[in-house]
Amino acid sequence: MMRTEQPKMIALSDYRLPDYLIDETHLTFELYEDHALVHARLLMQRNPALDSSLPPLLLHGQALELLTLALDGQPLTAVEYQLSADALQVQPQHSRFELSSTVRIEPQNNTALEGLYKSSGMFCTQCEAEGFRKITYYLDRPDVMSRFTTTIHAEKHSYPILLSNGNPVAEGDSEDGRHWATWEDPFKKPAYLFAIVAGDLWCVEDTFITMSGREVALRMYVEPENIDKCQHGMDSLKKSMRWDEEVYGREYDLDIFMIVAVNDFNMGAMENKGLNIFNSSCVLAKAETATDAAHQRIESIVAHEYFHNWSGNRVTCRDWFQLSLKEGFTVFRDSEFSADMNSRVVKRIEDVAYLRTHQFAEDAGPMAHPVRPAQYMEISNFYTLTIYEKGAEVVRMLHTLLGAQTFRKGSDLYFERHDGQAVTCDDFIAAMESVSGTDLTQFKRWYSQAGTPQLHISDSYDAATQTYQLTVKQSCPDTPGQSNKLPFVIPLSMALLNAQGVALPLQLAGENTAIADERVLSITEAEQTFSFINVPEQPLPSLLRGFSAPVIMDYDYSRDDLVFLLQHDTDGFNRWEAGQQLALQAIEDVVGQLYETQEPMLDSRLVEVFRALLAQEDLDPAMLAEFIALPGTGYIIEQYEQADPLAIHQAREYVSDQLAYALKEPMLARYHALRKVSLQTPYVAQAEDIARRRLQNMLLAYLMRTDDLDIVDECVDQFGVSDNMTERLSALACLVNSPFHDEAEQALESFADRFADDPIVMDQWFSVQAAAVLPDGLERVQHLLHHPAFSIKNPNKVRAVIGAFSTQNTPNFHALDGSGYAFLADKVIELDALNPQIAARMISPLTRWQRYDLHQQEMMQMQLKRIKNSGDLSADLFEVLEKSLAV
Ligand code: TRP
Ligand code: ZN
Repeated sequence: MMRTEQPKMIALSDYRLPDYLIDETHLTFELYEDHALVHARLLMQRNPALDSSLPPLLLHGQALELLTLALDGQPLTAVEYQLSADALQVQPQHSRFELSSTVRIEPQNNTALEGLYKSSGMFCTQCEAEGFRKITYYLDRPDVMSRFTTTIHAEKHSYPILLSNGNPVAEGDSEDGRHWATWEDPFKKPAYLFAIVAGDLWCVEDTFITMSGREVALRMYVEPENIDKCQHGMDSLKKSMRWDEEVYGREYDLDIFMIVAVNDFNMGAMENKGLNIFNSSCVLAKAETATDAAHQRIESIVAHEYFHNWSGNRVTCRDWFQLSLKEGFTVFRDSEFSADMNSRVVKRIEDVAYLRTHQFAEDAGPMAHPVRPAQYMEISNFYTLTIYEKGAEVVRMLHTLLGAQTFRKGSDLYFERHDGQAVTCDDFIAAMESVSGTDLTQFKRWYSQAGTPQLHISDSYDAATQTYQLTVKQSCPDTPGQSNKLPFVIPLSMALLNAQGVALPLQLAGENTAIADERVLSITEAEQTFSFINVPEQPLPSLLRGFSAPVIMDYDYSRDDLVFLLQHDTDGFNRWEAGQQLALQAIEDVVGQLYETQEPMLDSRLVEVFRALLAQEDLDPAMLAEFIALPGTGYIIEQYEQADPLAIHQAREYVSDQLAYALKEPMLARYHALRKVSLQTPYVAQAEDIARRRLQNMLLAYLMRTDDLDIVDECVDQFGVSDNMTERLSALACLVNSPFHDEAEQALESFADRFADDPIVMDQWFSVQAAAVLPDGLERVQHLLHHPAFSIKNPNKVRAVIGAFSTQNTPNFHALDGSGYAFLADKVIELDALNPQIAARMISPLTRWQRYDLHQQEMMQMQLKRIKNSGDLSADLFEVLEKSLAV
């Protein structure tokens, strides 16, 4: 860990080809309880793309104890190499040579969960982005791709399963109860895709026949107690494999595909070649323990990691500035997969809500960076919403602008041109340019300019000439280090609706015929006007349909327009969006009234349109559930220059309460009907059932606000008798947020009794409580930290308690006395000594200080400064603090 010197900035413009290449990597691991030995034999050569001189060879290495080092079989003495805290330097004598080393490491003491570490008794690795250098001295950069052969030795009784990338080629027993296995990966790969696992694991097996008729063995390795939670992950894997064949023409390339579930993991999962390693919470599920949301998350993460086999592994990144090349593309691929497996509109709504709440906040804050950053200090800090989610939106815009067929041709060309290579975002765009004959130079500003563009749209209708004009202005706010942004290429999907809600044919001036009733306008200028002709009546525009670009759009709809669109827009996404804007305005009214110390009043149009929707029997329950969900507090906060989180929370609560009281009758009738079906239907994690439960649970949450004792009984009943975690956990959350303290306590206790041995379920128990908005939230959270199932070393527990409190518990985290902020700062300091990646992630709510009222701003900044002065910081945390305090 770099705790002494100030970490340096690394710049994209400093990129140089590697001096040396590694053709073959032969690794031998000897695993013991108190240390591990790693022997590496690297067959290297001078990079043939460079001249024939032999500059010094600089290998990355961190926290390694070097035991032996030899060049072409000759041991090197201490004067023949140089060691520093993060590098080893040797002088090659020939253009081809073999470098061998042995290092000693201590996986059992690795709390950063990067490199080789132990998780509930098993050995596992996490190498992306720069963890391989904590395993052995190496050229730990993605443009150095090598063929790996790996042998693992370990004690046989505790570690019967020994895994690495590729195919198993040999195994055997050795003396003293130890055994070994050798794996060979035929595909060249960068070190970040390397993995080993050694543990006492059980396995669920299946097979998949690829489109070319090859049989692939599929294996999921889990701890024995989880063997009954593999089916959903396995089904998701098979669906993903089929989908990638059907939609992208890509088939799997090895004879085995393995997934391993581990309890201690910094992120969701990792796409190591042929050996994906998953956070157990992102792959293990069964009805009794995992919610619908968890089932869907698992389906998409399994797909995501699987899809990386092509978008990431076969074609990888030249350097970490290109991270979105694999992540943005792969998120786009997994979101399309999920859309095909479930409801497309609901998936889009969920993704957009997430993007607008979290990525837009990042883009407006001190950590804002382009999809392809120009510099960084610590790459782990750049696994961001911008790289992943905005990156996926950029790929989606290409898909929209070029059309599905041309996009597919472009992806085929990209994979064909670059198979086995480490490439850049420019190479991806170049393939799309080749197949479409389009110049995407301006489009590439999406990769280089940070910040969320704003679209201001106005219109006018001239009845005499039957022309309708749409004027679009775009701008983008300054972000740290970037001002005066140039115009983006923005696909604006739109329609014009008549008074009956029918989409009119669209004909631009100069066109001979109307081509469609929905079209994508390409916005390329700072200001542009589009004239539609033959428009028979004043239309209502439906704009940015399906959220066709990651922008903030404003058009001056009246509230009656919004009511109309929520009921009649032919684009499902825009129906939802109209409802969200209407609800947002209603909540903002109440925020204003609370300030004026007026009696708050809810706009009755919101109540009445919800009433009408509830009465509409033919409305898809999935859509209804989305329509009646109020915008989240986080999203509302983002709508203010300087937000008062407490007033916003209070206003949102008030509006929820009013809706509940006003609509109690239809909501109750609907709840009863849905609950009856749930009671009669065995749990299936399929779209239709998921939609029913989502609506049912949302109605229950509203109804519990009316403090009706009969409803409390029904909630307790749903909590107690449900066969699935979706209904049970929702009921628990309702109770825990209600004034019915005894019922809540009883439910919490019985839940903890029942699921004490299941850490993933206990995470949900923790987070429901940490997020509970009743007073004294901080006290409850402090208490949870002392629960025997809590451990600050486990990232899932940290996210469940500290994360849920600081991101979901608005009134307690933002408490006026600053206690919530001080608590988070204490925990971040504690975490940084153990796991810098997690510390740097957990601090993020404090980095958004500029978004809040002055009082909150001061208290948040004070805590940031306190962390900064608390002593030695990791590079990860240092970078985040520097940036958040710089503005
Ligand atoms: N490549 C992984 C993914 O997108 C991300 C990842 C897993 C990661 N573990 C990590 C990134 C640790 C940084 C550090 O699925
Ligand atoms: Zn990924």
